Amino acid sequence: MHAAAMGGDGCTCRCACACTPRRCPAAARLLSPLLLAAVLLQLLLPLAAAAYPQVHAHDLRSEDGPEVRAEQGVLRGVWVLGAAGTGIKFAAFRGIPFAAPPVGPLRFKAPRAPEPWEGVRDAVAEGPVCPQGQPDSAEGVLGDEDCLYLNVYVPAASLAGETTTDAPATTTTTMSPEEAVNDTAPARPLLPVLFFLHGSGSWFQRGSAGALDLGPELLLQHDIVVVTPSFRLGALGFASLDSEGVPGNAALKDALAALRWLHGNARAFGADKDRITVGGHGSGAALAHYLTLAPAAAGLARAAILQSGSALAQWAYTQDHVRYATELAARIDPEAARLSNDTQDVEDVLRNATVAQLLRGHAEVTLARPHRVNFVPFVPSPERRLQRGLGHGLGEEDEEEVFLPHDPEYLVVKRPVPSLPILMGVTSQEALLRFCNLKWDLFPERMELYNTELWHLLPLNLWPSDDTAAVFNVSRPPVDHGAGGEDEQPPTFPSEVRDIADQVREEYFGGANITNSSQQVVELLNDVFYNADIHRLATRRVQAAAQPTYLYRFSFEGEYNVGRARRRLDRPGAVHTDEMGYIWRVEGLGQNVTADTAAALTIKRVTTLWTNFVKTGSPVPEPLELTELIPDAWPPTEADTLPKQAVMDIGEKMQLRVEPLGGRHMNFWRIEYRNLRNGGGL
Ligand SMILES: *[C@@H]1O[C@H](CO)[C@@H](O)[C@H](O)[C@H]1NC(C)=O
Ligand SMILES: *[C@@H]1O[C@H](CO)[C@@H](O)[C@H](O)[C@H]1NC(C)=O
Ligand SMILES: *[C@@H]1O[C@H](CO)[C@@H](O)[C@H](O)[C@H]1NC(C)=O
Ligand SMILES: *[C@@H]1O[C@H](CO)[C@@H](O)[C@H](O)[C@H]1NC(C)=O
Ligand SMILES: *[C@@H]1O[C@H](CO)[C@@H](O)[C@H](O)[C@H]1NC(C)=O
Ligand SMILES: *[C@@H]1O[C@H](CO)[C@@H](O)[C@H](O)[C@H]1NC(C)=O
Ligand SMILES: *[C@@H]1O[C@H](CO)[C@@H](O)[C@H](O)[C@H]1NC(C)=O
Repeated sequence: MHAAAMGGDGCTCRCACACTPRRCPAAARLLSPLLLAAVLLQLLLPLAAAAYPQVHAHDLRSEDGPEVRAEQGVLRGVWVLGAAGTGIKFAAFRGIPFAAPPVGPLRFKAPRAPEPWEGVRDAVAEGPVCPQGQPDSAEGVLGDEDCLYLNVYVPAASLAGETTTDAPATTTTTMSPEEAVNDTAPARPLLPVLFFLHGSGSWFQRGSAGALDLGPELLLQHDIVVVTPSFRLGALGFASLDSEGVPGNAALKDALAALRWLHGNARAFGADKDRITVGGHGSGAALAHYLTLAPAAAGLARAAILQSGSALAQWAYTQDHVRYATELAARIDPEAARLSNDTQDVEDVLRNATVAQLLRGHAEVTLARPHRVNFVPFVPSPERRLQRGLGHGLGEEDEEEVFLPHDPEYLVVKRPVPSLPILMGVTSQEALLRFCNLKWDLFPERMELYNTELWHLLPLNLWPSDDTAAVFNVSRPPVDHGAGGEDEQPPTFPSEVRDIADQVREEYFGGANITNSSQQVVELLNDVFYNADIHRLATRRVQAAAQPTYLYRFSFEGEYNVGRARRRLDRPGAVHTDEMGYIWRVEGLGQNVTADTAAALTIKRVTTLWTNFVKTGSPVPEPLELTELIPDAWPPTEADTLPKQAVMDIGEKMQLRVEPLGGRHMNFWRIEYRNLRNGGGL
């Protein structure tokens, strides 16, 4: 497992698992061929440990838990004493069902309303994670299809019936709905809310809304309410046949249902439904961004925080969804797929499949394209069933709602929904872990392949998707990434694609071989997976005079950098997920806000900036009071600095810089993208 030195530029990139005991999944110790499979699947360790144990060591006695009346019935949560030196007392309501279980006939469908209940429902244990994992490894299948639950966390002092003393409150008695409305009218003003969608580590395939990774106390110290919903993952969350039975984007509709639930129930938790900020990390950031773009979600949130991801990311959209879902069915049941490729038969296969079959089939569809870097087939996709005549007319009962009528770039360009203030950014070395996972030192033939066929590394969204292409009157070249396995098809890359690959070789490698230039390869991956898209989005928002856009680059390196803490990396830089340890309590990271360290100061800084934004729509609101904690102003980026941007660098210092967010190659990408859009667009 110990990687050899990368050689060339003297950089070694050890990617051995350096996890804490809780985090060492047995699978990490298995050697090839499982290692090879894991490498090809390019899985990062998920943020949470494989088994997602529930650790609620800081719960106070649950029989004295706080009660609130939600629309479906009364919930009894639990009082918790915050860890990490915060000592803050808060109410946790865990595992609240915000939708009916999406099982049986509801698999793949938009979530349906949850059932009400009689009496008091315990909201003490978290819901199960949504299905994920590797069925044929030691890890196995994790989670349960019945997984649509969310957690609500409220500072104790803000919940009705609670006092600010340390003693747990006396039980509030169950209230009639009318009483509840007025009894829960808070002694203090309603609090603003952060509604946060978890990341994955492998783009929409994994992750958990639980407190193991998303412990809320660092944020709750700043007097906001925090909500963490789950949503379906992988094929269960994104498979689409553009049919009424498998309409696609189930996960996006889950996130929307959770947000609607919050809107309807916020007041009962002392939260303000008119001050909801949607946020997310990685693929969660992409989902949060979709919530700000989609007409179906308009008006529910008033701001967004996008950490290391957006709907524009190349990994956050596909219009080849029907092909991938059909391929998945063929992998699960080759017999049925041979008989017919009729939508109904394909649908039956997917609906009858076990979760293990779906996960295994998903892995096979991925493995069939070994050259695609971090290829993920099941991601958000356009809903075309009405155009294809496979849906009913709008408005029928039990009609599947359309979440995504157009590709995300079209939604950003055409703006059917008014823009919201957005705080967004990246870490300084986003893709370093992904680069390590490619293990080019163990598989030199991969490096050689990318060297001779650099076009495999071009971003998939360089050419616009159909709706955007129509706006700019351009057409996509017939790129086909092919497929391996039984239905082997060689990839096809026309000459215009090869030409752009040559330009990339010139820009990043001075026209030379990439084989021994691992630092430049990391830069290229940083840019094509994260930086270029966020840079374009920021530029577009400024040009369109959208609501304020606050940009950050997280470059701090300290003991709470989540990604670095789990891997032995001897290259500098903050990697994907690193900023999370300064916002959320992560089990096993040993955060301590009272320590006299730069890391503790960074927790205070980042949580102050983020919660200022949740409260006011600005991370450093006026009037400015600059202190050691917040030593610099953070204005939104404006047109007069383009193509540079106002970027808050969150490192040892906290300094506003005027630079292209994403670094020195951003101008190159901006020109490439614009050239392929007749000079318009992003
Ligand atoms: C790349 O580096 C390795 C080891 O440092 C060396 O053996 C090889 O010749 C180099 N290749 C090129 C093309 O420079
Ligand atoms: C609850 O309080 C509001 C004002 O806060 C008042 O308008 C309303 O009539 C009250 N409802 C009941 C049932 O007392
Ligand atoms: C699927 O059906 C279409 C026509 O509906 C046909 O053109 C295509 O060849 C079929 N594919 C397979 C794999 O049978
Ligand atoms: C799916 O299951 C149903 C009922 O269990 C069965 O009637 C049907 O033949 C199955 N379809 C396929 C394609 O396996
Ligand atoms: C779109 O482009 C084609 C050629 O690429 C041209 O013939 C056509 O007139 C253009 N349409 C519009 C509306 O500009
Ligand atoms: C890259 O290196 C290979 C040998 O590893 C060589 O055949 C090729 O010509 C080199 N290409 C460039 C552009 O230098
Ligand atoms: C946090 O750090 C302070 C000061 O260094 C120390 O007194 C305290 O015990 C630490 N708390 C935790 C939970 O580690």
